[in-house]
Amino acid sequence: MSATTATAAPPRLDPKALKQRFPILDQEIHGKPLVYLDNAASSQKPDSVIEAVSHYYRHDHANVHRGAYELSIRATDLYEQARARVARFIGAGRADEVVFTRSTTEAINLVAYAWGRANLGPGDVVVVTEMEHHSNLVPWHLIAGMTGARVEAVRMTDDGVLDLGSLDEILARGHVKLVTSAHVSNALGTIHPIEEIARRAHAAGALYLVDGAQAAPHEPVDVRAIGCDFYALSGHKMCGPTGIGALWGRKELLEAMPPFNGGGEMIDQVWADRSTYAKPPARFEAGTPHIAGAVGLAAAIEFLESVGMEAIAQHEAAMARLALERLAEEFPAIRLFGPGPEVPRAGVISFTLADIHPHDLATILDHEGIAIRAGHHCCQPLMRHYNIAATARASFYLYNDEDDLAALTRALHRAEQIFSVA
Ligand SMILES: Cc1ncc(COP(=O)(O)O)c(C=O)c1O
Repeated sequence: MSATTATAAPPRLDPKALKQRFPILDQEIHGKPLVYLDNAASSQKPDSVIEAVSHYYRHDHANVHRGAYELSIRATDLYEQARARVARFIGAGRADEVVFTRSTTEAINLVAYAWGRANLGPGDVVVVTEMEHHSNLVPWHLIAGMTGARVEAVRMTDDGVLDLGSLDEILARGHVKLVTSAHVSNALGTIHPIEEIARRAHAAGALYLVDGAQAAPHEPVDVRAIGCDFYALSGHKMCGPTGIGALWGRKELLEAMPPFNGGGEMIDQVWADRSTYAKPPARFEAGTPHIAGAVGLAAAIEFLESVGMEAIAQHEAAMARLALERLAEEFPAIRLFGPGPEVPRAGVISFTLADIHPHDLATILDHEGIAIRAGHHCCQPLMRHYNIAATARASFYLYNDEDDLAALTRALHRAEQIFSVA
């Protein structure tokens, strides 16, 4: 390593100590210590989250909002406390602005179906970006098909950032009802200027929905400071259980939206031929919710807050910088995608190595105990921008450190040997 190469910033968190809290990470894969670098797909779970879910099922489970008995009251309290915890975590003013969903995907579908069907019509425009995850594209394609609205995409540059000039061009043509973008790109690690996008969307009379799947786990989020109208997140990417996510929406918007799903819990009055609906958030939570998931998500937030979201963000930014510099230095045949090390970005590193297929790379790395993702990362428009089918992606979290990066580079050298890359 050259003398000018940056090293990780002084640790404000201790990744090795944190790793001890994640039981799954203490194992060997193909005889090698597991190095888990697929955190953008899903994070692992600390002991406190596993324990909270287990404790809930052992001691507190009953259905919520129904029973007049102790267990049901306890389960309801835990479920509603979890809602309040999510609200505080993302800077929401009120707990009833948080709707529990299965995931970011379901949160976006909720806005698309409930808000979109009521507010979009022929000639209206929904603005997405070329860099979106499919879960923030396909729901809009479906709703456009049902309402006659059009979907237009903000262009990206080859550096992997959004071209805000192209957003302005679309907004200037008029008829834009909603703008939506990720907070952080899952394929490139780009942190988008979401406050600025919110400002421009609102100046054009449009709402702004933020897909926070890759941001809420990794940096402080304050929906009111961002100035957005909706914010979506997934529990499983932020140390919580699978099957639980949340949609935050401004109260007056949620109150004006019709239901998404129908069933128990979301009603006010039901007759055989018609029904009226509860206020949000109950209106959007039909059926028995994922109570244990909400309890686990609250425990995950408690864990993340005890580490410190600012410390997590700084650690990952330092890991990203170090990884980009080291990979560029050690691998002349590597192609790194997304913003360079000089730009603050998330710990998501997308790359190709010579002409080795990313799936081959992922398989070779797996034999070295290293889990990375290979593929289009649910971002086919972004892949088309670069005229490639796939990248390899290593994504870092609070329990990854320089030793994990060293294991990655060793395994990539091994791949080079196998494929005789000069
Ligand atoms: C940016 C982004 N949006 C949405 C999603 C979908 O998340 P989920 O599968 O939890 O609904 C992902 C998952 O990778 C993502 O990275």
